[in-house]
Amino acid sequence: MIPTIRPRRLRATPALRGLVAETRLHPRDLVLPMFVREGLSEPLPIGSMPGVVQHTIDSLKGAVSEAAAAGVGGVMLFGIPAERDGRGSAADDPHGILNLATSAVRAEAGDALVVQTDLCLDEFTDHGHCGVLSADGGSVDNDATLDRYRAMALAQAEAGSELLGLSGMMDGQVAAVRGALDEAGFTDTALLAYSAKYASAFYGPFREAVDSQLTGDRKGYQMDPANRREGLREVELDISEGADIVMVKPAMSYLDVLADVADVSTVPVWAYQVSGEAAMIEAAAANGWIDRRRAIEESVVSIKRAGADAILSYFATELAGWIR
Ligand code: PBG
Repeated sequence: MIPTIRPRRLRATPALRGLVAETRLHPRDLVLPMFVREGLSEPLPIGSMPGVVQHTIDSLKGAVSEAAAAGVGGVMLFGIPAERDGRGSAADDPHGILNLATSAVRAEAGDALVVQTDLCLDEFTDHGHCGVLSADGGSVDNDATLDRYRAMALAQAEAGSELLGLSGMMDGQVAAVRGALDEAGFTDTALLAYSAKYASAFYGPFREAVDSQLTGDRKGYQMDPANRREGLREVELDISEGADIVMVKPAMSYLDVLADVADVSTVPVWAYQVSGEAAMIEAAAANGWIDRRRAIEESVVSIKRAGADAILSYFATELAGWIR
C-alpha cells in the first residue's frame, strides 16, 4: 500500500515551491516605522532595537531615501520632542519635531513612497499617556483628547503627511479627525486607524525608542489581549467613521484577530510587527538560537498569509532588499 496522493511532489524543488507559493511578499507591502528626535547632533542607537536609531532630520532623510531605493511602500514617522507637557503642545506646533521632519521627508522622498505620521500624544506628553488626563489625573479624558487629535491632524496634514496613523485608541477618534480635516479642506489626507490595538507587553522596546515617560499602563484605552470579537467591533466602528485603512497591532500574537478582520473588512487591512516582536527575533538570533533572516521572512510572510495587505516592520528596508 503506497500513497497515490503525495503533497510532497510540489515541495521537491525551489522552482516548484516558488510556483505554488500562496503568499508572496513585495517591497511595496512594507512600511518602515522611524524615529526622529529633536536636538540630536547625530543618530542615536536604541539599545533594545538593534539596527534602529533615533534619527536627526538629516539622517532620517538619508534612511528614507534608502527605504525608497529598496522599494519600500511607505514610512511611518514618530517624533521625540525636546520639551514635553501635560497637553503635548509640541504635537500640533508647526515647528514641532514631527511636523518639521514630515515636511523634510516629503521634500526628500517626493512620490517614491507614502509618508505617514503617528497621530498620538504619548511621545509629546510629560506623563506619557496617549491623551490628556482627566481633572483628577486618574484616567485619560477621551473627549478632551479628541480636540488635541483634531489639532494634531491639521498640523500633520499641513506638514505634508499623506496618511495619518491614529494609534491612540480614543473612542470616536476617526470621525473627529476626519471632520477636522474635511472642514479645513484636507479632504484627500487619508486615515489609517489602529483599530484593534491591544495593551501589549510587546511595545516594551518602543518605550525606550521614544523615551517614554509612562508609569503604569494603557489598559484603560487599549484592548484586552483576551478579546477577539471586540477587535471586529473596533474595526466596524472605525470603518463607519471613515477609516481608509484599518490595522491590527501587535501582529504575531494576534493573527486570529487579523484573519477575522481580513474576512470582513471592506478597506485594506494592515498589521504592525511591533518593537518587541522584532526584539525577540534579534535577541534569539544574536544568541545563535534562530536563523535571523529566515525568522524575519517567516514572521512577515505569516502576517501577510493571515490577511495583512501591508505590514509595518522595523525590518522593512532590509527585507525589501532580500525580496528583490
Ligand atoms: C502610540 C504607539 C505605540 C506604538 C506605536 N504607536 C506605543 C504604545 O501604544 O504604547 C508601539 C509600536 C512598537 O512597539 O513598535 N504612539
